[in-house]
Amino acid sequence: MLVRLLYASRLAAEANPASVVASILQQSHAHNPSHGITGILCHSDHVFMQVLEGGREAVNALYAKILRDTRHTDVVLLHYEEINERRYSGWTMGQANLAKLNVATLLRYSDLPVLNPHAMSGKNSLALMDELMATAAIIGRS
Ligand SMILES: Cc1cc2nc3c(=O)[nH]c(=O)nc-3n(C[C@H](O)[C@H](O)[C@H](O)COP(=O)(O)O)c2cc1C
Repeated sequence: MLVRLLYASRLAAEANPASVVASILQQSHAHNPSHGITGILCHSDHVFMQVLEGGREAVNALYAKILRDTRHTDVVLLHYEEINERRYSGWTMGQANLAKLNVATLLRYSDLPVLNPHAMSGKNSLALMDELMATAAIIGRS
């Protein structure tokens, strides 16, 4: 059975954004294919938003690890649902840099022109991710 999980978090204060993102993507590419996990990791210099899709057990187990990861804090679950089909099946872990997000795109889903997923609904966060996918802002398809 397939599920989709979406959460947001904040980069740990002392962490270097570029090197943390690079090491997360390396871990994702090493682990996700064999566990049937697909998804998207969106990040700015301060926040993460990640959608994970896959079997319920695999997604729940990975999320449990992610919750314990000290490279980020304030992990908040925004959305969890059983799904009939994946939305991001083409990505082992696609990546979008939210620092480069168009303000008009952001304002369509957010009350302020600053990305703050902790203040966004799960529905709007997913809609934002879909728009990133539709506008080819997500890289790293494999
Ligand atoms: C924001 C964020 C996203 C992550 N996404 C993934 C992922 O998609 N796949 C993965 O294997 N690890 C991911 N990790 C890393 C895991 O938290 C964990 O460090 C990794 O799975 C290795 O765990 P292990 O050493 O216990 O096997 C992520 C970490 C963070 C902070």
